[in-house]
Amino acid sequence: MSEEPGRTTRRFLTPPVRQVHQHLCNRMERLGMSAHIDAVGNLRGLWTPANATGKRLILGSHIDTVPDAGAFDGILGVVLALDWVQIATDLSLPLAIEVIAFSEEEGVRYGVPFIGSRAVAGTFDNKILAFEDSDGIRMDEAIRAFGLDPTKVGEAVIGEDAYGFVEIHIEQGPVLETEDLQVAVVDGIVGQSRLGFRFSGHANHAGTTPMHLRHDALTAAAEWIVCVESSVREASTGNDPGLVATVGKVAIKPDAENVIPSQAEVSLDLRHMSNRTRTWWCGELIHKARDIGQKRGIDVEYVVNLDEGAILMDKDLSLRLAQAVKDARFPMKSMPSGAGHDAMIMAGCVPTAMLFLRSPGGLSHHPDEAVREQDVEAALRVGERFLQRLATEVR
Ligand code: HGY
Ligand code: MN
Ligand code: MN
Repeated sequence: MSEEPGRTTRRFLTPPVRQVHQHLCNRMERLGMSAHIDAVGNLRGLWTPANATGKRLILGSHIDTVPDAGAFDGILGVVLALDWVQIATDLSLPLAIEVIAFSEEEGVRYGVPFIGSRAVAGTFDNKILAFEDSDGIRMDEAIRAFGLDPTKVGEAVIGEDAYGFVEIHIEQGPVLETEDLQVAVVDGIVGQSRLGFRFSGHANHAGTTPMHLRHDALTAAAEWIVCVESSVREASTGNDPGLVATVGKVAIKPDAENVIPSQAEVSLDLRHMSNRTRTWWCGELIHKARDIGQKRGIDVEYVVNLDEGAILMDKDLSLRLAQAVKDARFPMKSMPSGAGHDAMIMAGCVPTAMLFLRSPGGLSHHPDEAVREQDVEAALRVGERFLQRLATEVR
């Protein structure tokens, strides 16, 4: 279910999302769930047992992907959530269960992540409705084109009856494989900054312009990118362990072989568990970009597209999940997440916990991303114990 033949790319509200919705709705119907799609394209299924007390457990993850993605980031958590509902149908759980397939977590189409979970958490900023994608389509136009009403985003917010949110997700890193563990409970999610830089120089003829008379935007950006890598790599092995910075996108104008680049637009993704450290490094890398620009006669501008603080998972809910891991006879490990997740948005409004599955090869955001069947089985066993605990402990 992809926008492109031969590789998996599924951006916010693109045509393959309808196929995913249809597939998931079929499964929800078979589970006796009611399903609807909210104003930002989150698919929401509700299972209400006979003895429901009025509170609801929310499960889910995202169904959008990065370009040329693997088959498990996000979607595995939605499919496993439905399997947990299947397990719950055999228990006398006093909680209803809402499964949410979030419409957009990666931030690929509009350069801003967590669109789906922000609408559910009530932290959606209406100004992003005017953001345009690479084809010049505004977000509100894309929402209308999908048959939804962007004026109704406010109706997506979860109510007071939310008991908690649990996201099941692949680790997307090497830790569980290195320690030969199948599952882990997440204790916190690193903070994430996403900035856009614009280096502006002067286009000129590649053949007639002497090297010392150039104002080449791309070479200025290139010097900065190498500086980002070397300075952050040094800090990550020194004072700031866990610090990571990535330049994933570069766009050049006029992008011709025989023209000196006049403009280079560059992304920066910077993460750390300490908000203070992350903020300091954002300032430091902005400073370095300006220094390089000054030295080369290149103008440097930047915009902050995301400044999402690190967040701890809910202690009580995580403890219940950890207990379920032990009940299911798996070694219990808790660990931070270097990847961002909808859980970091939901944690702002409802007690939130996360269960990780091992990522073979520590690989993700790559077509060879994988998951082992025995680890999926482990997540089902943990779910069984977790739901059994809720059935006996929640009133
Ligand atoms: O970028 C992330 O951390 C997540 O995969 N969206
Ligand atoms: Mn991802
Ligand atoms: Mn993900």
